[in-house]
Amino acid sequence: MATITVNHHQFFTRERGRGPVALFVHGFPLDSTMWLEQTERLSDVRRCIVPDLRGFGSSAPSLRTVLTMEEHADDLVGIIDVLGIERVDLVGLSMGGYVALAFAERHPDRLRTLALVDTKSTEDSEEGKAGRSAAALRIATEGRAGFATDMVPMLVSESASPWLRARLRTMIEAAPAESIVAALEGMKRRPDRTAVLSNIGIPVGVIVGEHDALTPLADADHMAAAAGAALSIVPDAGHMAPVENPAAVEAALRSLWGAVSPD
Ligand code: MLT
Repeated sequence: MATITVNHHQFFTRERGRGPVALFVHGFPLDSTMWLEQTERLSDVRRCIVPDLRGFGSSAPSLRTVLTMEEHADDLVGIIDVLGIERVDLVGLSMGGYVALAFAERHPDRLRTLALVDTKSTEDSEEGKAGRSAAALRIATEGRAGFATDMVPMLVSESASPWLRARLRTMIEAAPAESIVAALEGMKRRPDRTAVLSNIGIPVGVIVGEHDALTPLADADHMAAAAGAALSIVPDAGHMAPVENPAAVEAALRSLWGAVSPD
């Protein structure tokens, strides 16, 4: 674990394993601990680096009123610059996938492979944007508890254990309310990045939980078709496939990474 200063901001990062670097990006409004199962399993083939995004987890609090996908992507490049890393296998879940797509658009030469997990490349619908504005107002007035109560069941499949639900609730309730509000606004402003996938020159893997209610199979299909990517459908999992069925996500990542020879 380390603290790295990039763009005048302090970032907390977890690290495990050796070999070529895989960089994992967490979802909203979570933190780096959501990748613990994967980094433990994949540490024999990759040096797994997992930052807490600006304003989340143990990274420094953020004064941004909007946390954009682009700034998160540039922060990640700053982190690998400080660590002296040229190229990474990038893995992003949900909002982490939006950040990964912004990364691929802005810094394509820093990628070896791209894994998009339970995410989508399209922008929010008008209804989705209105929902984000309503959620921001609710968090500002009521705090995080009600938001967490509503969100946890949407994140996981019906079979998810109380332990996993409690763990996700802990992450959501630990996220600063102002970061949640700023991230909602940032996600609302993100553009459609499907074209990034159509023009990408590296192997892409698309992974989705079979019961993902937030970014369902149709979103994954759309990305896989655009990128000419392999699609892995994870059984017994919802939106949080890496923690709901860690073995299946591990297998999909091993398969994607097996397709490239590391630098
Ligand atoms: C996430 O899991 O990161 C969020 O559900 C993404 C979103 O709200 O679009």
